[in-house]
Amino acid sequence: MKIFIDTANLKEIREAAALGLLDGVTTNPSLVSKESGVSFKQLLQQIVESVDGPISAEVISTDYEGILKEGRELAKIHSNIVVKVPLIKEGLKAVKTFSEEGIKTNVTLCFSASQAVLAAKAGASYISPFVGRLDDISMNGMDLISQIVQIYRNYDFSTEVLVASIRHPLHFVDACMIGADVCTMPFSVIDKLFNHPLTDLGLEKFLSDSKKISQ
Ligand code: E4P
Repeated sequence: MKIFIDTANLKEIREAAALGLLDGVTTNPSLVSKESGVSFKQLLQQIVESVDGPISAEVISTDYEGILKEGRELAKIHSNIVVKVPLIKEGLKAVKTFSEEGIKTNVTLCFSASQAVLAAKAGASYISPFVGRLDDISMNGMDLISQIVQIYRNYDFSTEVLVASIRHPLHFVDACMIGADVCTMPFSVIDKLFNHPLTDLGLEKFLSDSKKISQ
């Protein structure tokens, strides 16, 4: 299971990277819009210098030519940049072209298994199903992950399943159980993965008992 952080905040990215367990970063226009005082390209440059792994950067064009132009520019920034493309017809056409050009892609805003199949056929490097947003509308996001993982196995698709819109540690555990490839999470969720009250209690007791040991 690869762990990506879902943020454009450099402080959080560097803090997560310092944990030694971070494999990559995903951003989106909403996350980038929260970071002020720096251009998108400068921000990406700083992110690629902070993490040696796939960094998803999303295009905002919605037509084939526009997506290609933007994506090629983003890909030029660094070989670790993954061009994030929305799951629309023009987007998948562009993904096919990017895949022929050797540009890595992350197809985002996936909410159904049929969409995920089309993304894989177009040659996407990653598919991003949004589990939290499905849960929000009373649909089970994890059922979608199970379907996609099973379908990709059935047809031996190489597209990696990147579980997105993760809201809590149970999403992460469920994704691991299903066998998804990647989970992208906000820093707050990554932080929670470490915690267990019995670990804290146990450590407290070990440390207090250790004071009774003669050195
Ligand atoms: C995925 O790459 C998206 O950036 C993200 O996971 C969306 O999550 P949200 O539903 O919490 O906005």
